[in-house]
Amino acid sequence: MYRKGDNDVMSYCEKLEAAKSFVNSKVKNFPKFVIVLGSGLANLLNEIEVETEISYREIPHMVLATVEGHVSRLIVGTLGGVRVACMQGRLHFYEGLKMEEVVFPFRVFGLCGADTFLLTNAAGGLHAEMEPGDLVLIKDHVNLMGTNPLVGKNYDSLGTRFPDMTHLYDPHLRELIAEVAKKLKVNLTEGVYFGLHGPSYETPSEIKMYRLLGADVVGMSTVPEAIALHHMGKKVAAISCVTNLAAGVSPKPLEHSEVLETAKKVQAVFCSLIKESIKVMDFRI
Ligand code: HPA
Repeated sequence: MYRKGDNDVMSYCEKLEAAKSFVNSKVKNFPKFVIVLGSGLANLLNEIEVETEISYREIPHMVLATVEGHVSRLIVGTLGGVRVACMQGRLHFYEGLKMEEVVFPFRVFGLCGADTFLLTNAAGGLHAEMEPGDLVLIKDHVNLMGTNPLVGKNYDSLGTRFPDMTHLYDPHLRELIAEVAKKLKVNLTEGVYFGLHGPSYETPSEIKMYRLLGADVVGMSTVPEAIALHHMGKKVAAISCVTNLAAGVSPKPLEHSEVLETAKKVQAVFCSLIKESIKVMDFRI
């Protein structure tokens, strides 16, 4: 990997090590759980008793997010009595970054000792009966981003060259989250997430094709992160918030402001689902 201004003799692993050392110097005993907050889902942070906050700006070799609604920082603290690290802001492939840059923070926090990652995202729903605000537990994905975060030299210290992806979205975690949703009376269905390059939203014909191919929700994140984490042997669960019906499912044109507004409306429910799920995971895994 080479970016202007970087010392180009450093390998990816050396950069990861430098970032890890920095984070380790700021966070003693890195939490087991990492929660990734998608677009407009930052309210969870109000429920965290904050210990430490690190701006991505401070972390060596970290690239910064540019999207509205994404501030890039790591918040470490306690959520419902459980120590967690919360990633506010993520990097998207459509920002023009390399895949290895998109997954860099995940690799770093994985190396710091985090073991279980709960990813959230905003997504478009592909079924007419879906409603903005619906939550979908991702059971599998289809990577349509045109590339893969593991392309290039494989670092055996991170993971194997050809990792199996059969149980990428951890079945046990999915079971626990579904149980919690039931208990909280939160409507949570399971679905397949199609990860798209973006940044343009899809055309109605593309959405029709993805539906025929088995998509339930579409979005522009999560897939690279989940692959890189699974490559490292980390446990992954992911939940989509259907912020809008995908192109052509409803006659309304899509707007990013609608995505943020819907995410805001559903935050309270989403936050309680995440908080309770983390508590149950802490107890049961
Ligand atoms: N398509 C792709 N990504 C998205 C969408 C969508 O409709 N909504 C939120 N993220």
